[in-house]
Amino acid sequence: MDMQIAPSILTADFTRLGEVLEESIDAGIDWIHLDVMDGNWVVNETITFGPAVVRSVRERVGPDIFVDCHLMITNAERTWKQYADAGVDLIIAHIEAINDPAALISEIRGSGTMVGLVLNPDTEPDAILPYLSELDLVLVMSVVPGKGGQSFMPEVEGKVRVFRAAIDEQISDGGRKTKLMIDGGIKAHNASMVASWGVDVAVIGSGLINDKASIAENISEIRSK
Ligand code: DX5
Ligand code: ZN
Repeated sequence: MDMQIAPSILTADFTRLGEVLEESIDAGIDWIHLDVMDGNWVVNETITFGPAVVRSVRERVGPDIFVDCHLMITNAERTWKQYADAGVDLIIAHIEAINDPAALISEIRGSGTMVGLVLNPDTEPDAILPYLSELDLVLVMSVVPGKGGQSFMPEVEGKVRVFRAAIDEQISDGGRKTKLMIDGGIKAHNASMVASWGVDVAVIGSGLINDKASIAENISEIRSK
């Protein structure tokens, strides 16, 4: 399976975040997924972390690790630059939480940061397809955003395949090589299935960072299926 794996650090012990990041990198991880929640936008109104932690992560992992931030916040259009300035490579904003996607995409790209859009399980692909040619990444949520450890929602398969086909057509027409990412409930038992749907990058939180096994052991189990 050549699908890339990006750990979500949400289920990590935040007092050991640096060690978790090092362990991830030592296990061959080169993409970190940062889940930013503002205590307002997600259904369970939880708070995770902001630009200060993002900056610490960037300083800890160094310049060669790819760091994205998944903004589950109400004011992404006003505050995205705090995350760009904190050193992320890619900003992923929820289409449900922004008013002017075209403007936000060009602002983020204008700052030299890559830009992606993400949609919730109950949002149709048409919400994002018009912007596809301008996106570095599309993220399909396979859980309702708000926390790690939730059950995978297989009903997103159709949506993943719609984006896979649209991106393949875009690339064959010489367009942008937009990446396709999935996020939520990905474990050893379903990772190869979503890889077969044409996903480029899978975000894995509790399936990778848990007290049952090391990150390296979890990665090899995921890749062995
Ligand atoms: C949920 C986050 C996901 C989540 C993934 O709101 O966007 O990134 O942390 O965690 P698992 O893999 O445990 O579902
Ligand atoms: Zn996420």
